[in-house]
Amino acid sequence: MRLLSLSIGLVMLGLAAAPTRLTAQESSGEAIFQQKCSACHLTGSDRLVGPGLAGVTTRRDPAWLKRFIMQPDQVLASGDSIANALLLEYQVPMPNIGTTDAEAEALIAFLSGAEAAGESGAQQVAVAPATEEQIVLGQNLFQGTTRFSNNGPTCNSCHEVTNDAVIGGGILARELTTVFSRLGGPGVRAILGSPPFPVMQRAYQGTPLTDEEVVALVAFLERADAEQALHQPRDYGIKLFGAGVVGVLILLGLYSLLWRGRLRGSVNQAIYDRQISST
Ligand code: HEC
Ligand code: HEC
Repeated sequence: MRLLSLSIGLVMLGLAAAPTRLTAQESSGEAIFQQKCSACHLTGSDRLVGPGLAGVTTRRDPAWLKRFIMQPDQVLASGDSIANALLLEYQVPMPNIGTTDAEAEALIAFLSGAEAAGESGAQQVAVAPATEEQIVLGQNLFQGTTRFSNNGPTCNSCHEVTNDAVIGGGILARELTTVFSRLGGPGVRAILGSPPFPVMQRAYQGTPLTDEEVVALVAFLERADAEQALHQPRDYGIKLFGAGVVGVLILLGLYSLLWRGRLRGSVNQAIYDRQISST
């Protein structure tokens, strides 16, 4: 079924591309781009998860560009300065999604063609606002009160979100409370659809999340992000200790106030004083 709709999609893409001056390589590059890259990149200059790719074929050395598209993880691991700067700026590493030599060639042809045509390529999918049920489903999936339909591990086992409705989670991976403002809806969706992080990738290999689950989780993370200011951080630590110290000081102050008329010195002191003064 999915294969069928994909091939229909490809045929339609082909039809749409027919009237323009795209070469065969460029139009196959466009189809590959839609399938593999458009979750994270626009062909215009706006940023999505990764940078907008307008001008990238002139901005970067052709050999570097091809290698980066095929094996971004290895370029990064080699200590490449451009890759490191990109990671610093975008926070997420581009995952190695197994792009072949021929695909990379087609993609580069498409990207330089798109530039020449001055295409914006902005095709952001309009996403309907999440329903309350989706948010609740996302929360239950996140903390494991509802199992994933493919039996993947709960997010909670590695991540934590600060939300009073959610029990504390793991600290192996990053706290996700504000991930929605950091990466945006498309970014979080893209990460859940195909996790670029090796640990998470392995955790969901063979047990991928369904589209419905991804939508629900994104909705929940958006809500947790919006509500974060209203919820207590779970990390009490030094604050709790400080509050304890302040409490003890206040109590001590109160006690000495209550007992300010207490006996100072010994019981006999008054008698002794009287005796001394009468002699
Ligand atoms: C899961 C998200 C994701 C996917 C999928 C993805 N990228 Fe990226 N890409 C990024 C991020 C994030 C960066 C910047 C950070 C980095 O490189 O580590 C990036 C950087 C790049 C760069 C460098 C841009 C520059 O200014 O030099 C190119 C080129 C690129 N991607 C091309 C592609 C192509 C082509 C595809 C499809 C085959 C693709 N990407 C798929 C996330 C993604
Ligand atoms: C086996 C452990 C594991 C599980 C399970 C897991 N993740 Fe992750 N996740 C990671 C690691 C490791 C990273 C890489 C970044 C980091 O160090 O936190 C990550 C990164 C992310 C990021 C990007 C964080 C950022 O700030 O860039 C998001 C979003 C995310 N995970 C969401 C989820 C959701 C939603 C689930 C449940 C469906 C989930 N993860 C399940 C380990 C896990």
